[in-house]
Amino acid sequence: MKPPIRIAITGATGQICYSLLFRIAAGDMLGKDQPVILQLHDISEALPLFDGIVMELLDCAFPLLTDIITTDNPKTAFNNVDLAILVGARPRSENMERKDLLKANGPIFVEQGRALDEAAKRNVKILVVGNPANTNAYIAMKNAPNLKPDNFSAMLRLDHNRALSQVAQKLSQPISRVKKMIVWGNHSGTQYPDLSHAMVGDEKVISLIKDSAWIEDYFLPTIQRRGMTIIEARHGKSSAASAANAIINHMHDWIFGTKDNDWVSMGIPSDGSYGIAEGVIYGFPVTCHTGKYAIVEGLELDSTSKEKLQKSYQELIEERDAVQHLLN
Ligand code: NAD
Ligand code: LMR
Repeated sequence: MKPPIRIAITGATGQICYSLLFRIAAGDMLGKDQPVILQLHDISEALPLFDGIVMELLDCAFPLLTDIITTDNPKTAFNNVDLAILVGARPRSENMERKDLLKANGPIFVEQGRALDEAAKRNVKILVVGNPANTNAYIAMKNAPNLKPDNFSAMLRLDHNRALSQVAQKLSQPISRVKKMIVWGNHSGTQYPDLSHAMVGDEKVISLIKDSAWIEDYFLPTIQRRGMTIIEARHGKSSAASAANAIINHMHDWIFGTKDNDWVSMGIPSDGSYGIAEGVIYGFPVTCHTGKYAIVEGLELDSTSKEKLQKSYQELIEERDAVQHLLN
């Protein structure tokens, strides 16, 4: 039996986690032979909600679930963890942009960045999901000076999956045949779901679609606005099961590697590629090998794509400027 992996999860009594915890404990993220210890965090007021969640986890009799810790102390939650999934944060309501949450949610990531810095393993893999995810990841990273930037990531995988699904439906192809999707930038309305490198088999997706109006007038806005469309359809609740699924995909690929001849989109600290200043947490196409991510370099971008990349970058710079007081 392998030794257990310690996983911290914040916002663990919230709706994303009601799906996430059970899938992780079932082995969907780390494999059916990998025991896990769940170190669950939530705010003090939410602690009573852990009673039912823990009872349900136990009632599943998951063979891989070695231990469950529940706490309102971030340092206890992050103690010696291999993985940290930061979900805890307020979701937006109808008519809000995700960046409107910065004031409410930004300070959470100051405290959690500091606690990770003190308590987590030095090679911890951190995924920020709570919105606005890119800037919250940046705040946590800046408050964890003893961890490396490549410990950190933010979630663009839900956008990536949404884009794969739309293209597969449009072309009546199985999702597994659609490769080399990219979602650049911020997890916000300025994100750029880019089909110019996407392939189905040996053929370019844009040649198969043959319909630039579908791309500009349907595909781009559908992906960019999908979060709000779900909030409206779910009467005020944001995506939960699909977000949990994207978390599992993101962590799985980071740890076990991406497939040959394909890549995924992750929000990661820029190394200066594609005109994005070093350190900014930006959605890039990445490949993962041996537990490390690397930006896919050298892709040709036309002037329209370059403009779209810059627009999302400028938004992230504005978000960063708005949280200067939270940066270490
Ligand atoms: P939820 O309201 O159901 O749960 C939020 C959890 O965060 C609750 O358990 C709450 O107690 C906790 N929380 C609140 N304030 C906190 C604080 N100060 N410190 C620590 N924890 C705190 O929300 P949810 O639907 O689970 O969504 C959680 C977050 O994930 C939201 O910000 C949402 O917008 C975001 N989200 C991101 C993506 C993405 O793709 N990046 C996708 C879906 C949702
Ligand atoms: C999503 O993309 O579904 C989440 O980020 C929730 C939201 O506010 O859109």
